[in-house]
Amino acid sequence: MSIYKRIMNKLAAPPKTINTQDEFINWLFFANAGMLHRGNLYCFDYAIKNIPADTSVVEIGSFCGLSTNAITYYLAKNSKNNKIITCDNWVFENAGKFLENGGFILLDDSVDNSVFECARLPKKIIKGRKYEVVVKNPNYLFKKNSVIHNL
Ligand SMILES: C[S@@+](CC[C@H](N)C(=O)[O-])C[C@H]1O[C@@H](n2cnc3c(N)ncnc32)[C@H](O)[C@@H]1O
Repeated sequence: MSIYKRIMNKLAAPPKTINTQDEFINWLFFANAGMLHRGNLYCFDYAIKNIPADTSVVEIGSFCGLSTNAITYYLAKNSKNNKIITCDNWVFENAGKFLENGGFILLDDSVDNSVFECARLPKKIIKGRKYEVVVKNPNYLFKKNSVIHNL
């Protein structure tokens, strides 16, 4: 895409979106890390309202489960008990699996109070004790903690 087109896209008003959020969904978005566009909620609700009883919901790319929890919520809200099958190649965990002890992970957009969901990850990562914060400038740079990993 040309630079001109990219600039015009940035300047364009965001597409109009039907937002089906309610109090539960707002809390879910607050508490659950994720990358879910709120417009997807209407699509979840629509699909679930119209899903045949004996079929399953298959989600590819659940990441931290925000969309999975939203789908589960809409299933319950619509009194549906379809199975839900989710999968992900868990990008962050895989990064950790292949990262050498002492290796670094920089979380872009993770600055405290950032509007991006990524900003919810640092607290979880710190709690997990597999990484230590080595720089906060203002985004978080983590180092894989070799001592804890070698225990
Ligand atoms: C935009 S994120 C999804 C966000 C998530 N649904 C949420 O509510 O936050 C895309 C996810 O798809 C996963 N993904 C990408 N390709 C995949 C694949 N081939 N199989 C399974 N998961 C995949 C990535 O690991 C990533 O977590």
